[in-house]
Amino acid sequence: MSQSLSQRYQTYIGELFAPEDATLRYVRRQTAARGLPQISLEANEAKLLQVLVRLSGAARVVEVGTLAGYSGICIARALPDDGQLTTIEVSSVHAEVARAHFQYAGLADKVTVLQGAAAQVLPKLAADAPFDLMFIDADKGNYHNYLAWAAEHLRVGGAVVADNAFWGGAIFDPKTDDDHAMVAFNRMLAEHPRFNSTIIQVGDGIAVGVKTG
Ligand SMILES: C[S@@+](CC[C@H](N)C(=O)[O-])C[C@H]1O[C@@H](n2cnc3c(N)ncnc32)[C@H](O)[C@@H]1O
Repeated sequence: MSQSLSQRYQTYIGELFAPEDATLRYVRRQTAARGLPQISLEANEAKLLQVLVRLSGAARVVEVGTLAGYSGICIARALPDDGQLTTIEVSSVHAEVARAHFQYAGLADKVTVLQGAAAQVLPKLAADAPFDLMFIDADKGNYHNYLAWAAEHLRVGGAVVADNAFWGGAIFDPKTDDDHAMVAFNRMLAEHPRFNSTIIQVGDGIAVGVKTG
């Protein structure tokens, strides 16, 4: 497939299935205005995540890497009335901005933002397991640890979803620690005996695994 045709497919999907509404556009504008990194999910990725939440029937979701709440809003919108998203963010500034955005989106009652490093926060969530879906979008060096947590704390039939599976193409010629971490994560997921997995070619690659046992 030529690069340009592949890009046209993404544009086609985005325009047809993933136009951002006023709230998501506001969150993107505020993310930039508040000086936060502009590394929220692309609209196509976020729409896919939303569909996966619906498809899996998830009601209890854990996210690692909140940033300004863009992906969290998309997840929370796909939850049933009694659904809950718990999202973990290491930066106190990002967590505060995200809380304001969940409030703005009318989703504050569905979302809990826990501030702290996920490696420290996740063990505290173990008592609330099993969860239905885990979305990983944070420090690459810990992706394998987050996957190990998912294997233990998702219900059978639940899903792990991870952004940046292609890591901007660096998986083909890994140089940095983060590059190698993503190569290792993808292999771990592909070979994991408790997940049936693949990478969906959208945005920077969305890895998806369904827990089978
Ligand atoms: C790519 S951004 C998340 C984008 C967000 N999921 C979205 O699409 O709207 C990564 C976020 O993970 C946070 N982060 C990095 N390391 C973390 C850690 N160890 N624990 C929790 N959050 C972390 C960063 O501060 C940043 O806000």
